[in-house]
Amino acid sequence: MPARPYVIDELISAKAIAARIEALSHQIAAEFAGTEKLVVVGLLRGSFVFIADLVRELDLPVEVDFLEASSYGDATESSREVRILKDLRGQIEGRDVLVVEDIVDTGYTLSYVIKLLQNRKPAKLRTIALLDKPSRREVAIRADWIGFEIPDEFVVGYGIDFAQANRNLPFIGKVKFVD
Ligand code: PRP
Repeated sequence: MPARPYVIDELISAKAIAARIEALSHQIAAEFAGTEKLVVVGLLRGSFVFIADLVRELDLPVEVDFLEASSYGDATESSREVRILKDLRGQIEGRDVLVVEDIVDTGYTLSYVIKLLQNRKPAKLRTIALLDKPSRREVAIRADWIGFEIPDEFVVGYGIDFAQANRNLPFIGKVKFVD
C-alpha cells in the first residue's frame, strides 16, 4: 500500500519543551532530594530524546537504564497487549526509580510497566510523561509529572515516530494527511 502523503505542523516548539523540562526537573529533584542514586528508566524507543534532555537538567546523582515495552509495533492502534522486548539491566529493589515515558495514550503501556516494576519492590517509584492524551485513556492511570496535555492529535517528533520516521524532529508536530 503506498504511503499517504502528509505534512507536519509544529504543535510544541523545541524551546517550549526545554522550558518545561527545566521546570519539571526542579520538582523531580525536590521529590528525590537526598537519594543515593536515582535510577532513571527510559521506555524505548519513544523516550530516548526526552530522557537525554531530562537527565541533563536533573541536579541529582542518576543512573540510566532502559526498558522496551511495545503495544503498537508499527501499527497506529494499540494492541492493548503489552510485551516486554528488553528488560532493565539493573536491579531496582530498594532503589529510587523514575520511569520516563514519551506519551500516555490508552495507558496500557504505563500501567503495565508500573505493575511490573512495583513487583520488584523499589523504595520509591515515580513516573513522568512528556505528553498526555487523557481523551484516549482506557486504563485509569496518570503519570506523576506531565509535560503537556494534548488533544487527540497524531503527534510525531522529539522521539515519537510515525511508522518509524520523524523521531529526529526537534519539536513535537502533528501529522496532517493531505490526500
Ligand atoms: C508508544 C509510546 C508509549 C505508548 C503509549 O510506544 O512510546 O510507550 O505507545 O501508548 P499507550 O498509552 O496506548 O500504551 P510504541 O509501542 O509505539 O513504541 P515506541 O516507543 O518504540 O515507538
